[in-house]
Amino acid sequence: MGEHGEMADFVVVANRLPVDLERYPDGTQRWKHSPGGLVSALEPFLRARKGAWVGWPGVADVDVDVDEFHDGGMRLYPVTLSATDMRDYYEGFSNATLWPLYHDVVARPVFDRAWWDRYVKVNLRFAEASAKVAAEGATVWIQDYQLQLVPKMLRELRPDLRIGFFLHIPFPPTELFMQLPWRAEIVRGLLGADLIGFHRPGGAQNFLWLARRLVGLEPSRGAVGVRSRPGVVQVGDRPVRVGSFPISIDASGLDSLARSKEVIARAKEIRAELGNPKRILLGVDRLDYTKGIDLRLIALQELLAERRVLPGDVAMLQLATPSRERVEHYQKMRGDIEQLVSRINGEFARVGQPVVHYLHQSVNRKELAAFFSAADVMVVTPLRDGMNLVCKEYVACRHDLGGALLLSEFAGAAAELTSAFQVNPHDLDGVKNALYTALTIDPAEGRRRMRALRRQVLTHDVDRWARSFLDALGTESA
Ligand code: ADP
Ligand code: G6P
Repeated sequence: MGEHGEMADFVVVANRLPVDLERYPDGTQRWKHSPGGLVSALEPFLRARKGAWVGWPGVADVDVDVDEFHDGGMRLYPVTLSATDMRDYYEGFSNATLWPLYHDVVARPVFDRAWWDRYVKVNLRFAEASAKVAAEGATVWIQDYQLQLVPKMLRELRPDLRIGFFLHIPFPPTELFMQLPWRAEIVRGLLGADLIGFHRPGGAQNFLWLARRLVGLEPSRGAVGVRSRPGVVQVGDRPVRVGSFPISIDASGLDSLARSKEVIARAKEIRAELGNPKRILLGVDRLDYTKGIDLRLIALQELLAERRVLPGDVAMLQLATPSRERVEHYQKMRGDIEQLVSRINGEFARVGQPVVHYLHQSVNRKELAAFFSAADVMVVTPLRDGMNLVCKEYVACRHDLGGALLLSEFAGAAAELTSAFQVNPHDLDGVKNALYTALTIDPAEGRRRMRALRRQVLTHDVDRWARSFLDALGTESA
């Protein structure tokens, strides 16, 4: 790495690289786009900025045979994980402890000491890799819940660096965070950064409270604003700022893609392939139990059973990217959802005319833009979501001002997308009624809402998010 390759002035560190290595039995390999919102948001930004990215190439036990490689404008530095690292650090502590704990304990978090030990070890490995890549005085921007100890570890190795940290998932209520046996270590780990960013001011506020309670520090008292008035906590002679920076998407890129002839034609074709129903409902998610995919299916099932919605009139398309398939909660949820899909189709479909079309696959950006353009109602019903980018992507694709957005109040995006049909996903009748209203919306009212949503999304894109964070970190001009 560092000794041989170039040192970088701007480094992103994330559990995953923006591309995953796929190895086939015949020995060939290929890189493909990594799943999830973190990569969707950061990749276009980093490509334009020509930065370096330190992360895991997505498969266990491979020695990637290069120290670094170039991908367009980015330099990628792989950190390899063994099968045990993957089991205990990634599937275990990151995704069976922190993920459910930070998402309101929607599933029960498991507290396992061996997983924690491995989390510490792997975080140290990421800190060491980043220390080798970063040039003197560089800015290093650490991402997400998998790497919360890296800020402190990296500062110890390289006190010359400017260090930012951003959490892409919700930061939980303090009562829930306090369950974590290693709560003080996590707070201390994060305090190694110069700036800690959350999506919502509430997350920042919770963190400041914990810094007092668990580390005995004296945080500032004023309310944290959105992109303004960060809180401050003094750690020795070093001020650490704590703020709210709601993430977003490459809105203009998606807007132009959706305006392209190819996408417009493909959207028409998708409608026809679905049998030209009166209304198309769309869900697009990683297959995750926080996303409320089951709730929306149950709402549709009941509307069909009550004949408020007729089978020939609607088609629902659910795209579900495979995710964390070896973690138990995910396996169970996949079974439950697939059973619901077949139950609905068993009851309401005709030959050649399913009501729910379910794809356990990822699709490319163009195809996704065509799905968004074809959908009359976008259904986004997470029980808890840090931000949720899918709803913003839908809005960015609707230059025709068509379509309606059904959005859970418990997605971070709800604070910005106030013209959506907002629902409490725990209130099934509320979800059904909102779904029905969105399906039968007066077109003029629909356009009014979509215009307001677009104004928000197009003026608050991922560049603005990154600039506001880096400005607050004090390095944007660097
Ligand atoms: P999360 O980060 O929890 O997965 P987000 O909604 O913030 O949730 O981001 C998900 C990202 O993954 C979005 O950019 C979305 O377009 C993409 N995505 C989700 N499902 C699919 C799919 N089936 N095919 C292609 N892209 C998908
Ligand atoms: C969310 C998380 C990311 C993660 C992504 C995909 O967006 O915030 O950190 O990369 O999901 O999950 P995975 O476990 O496949 O990396």
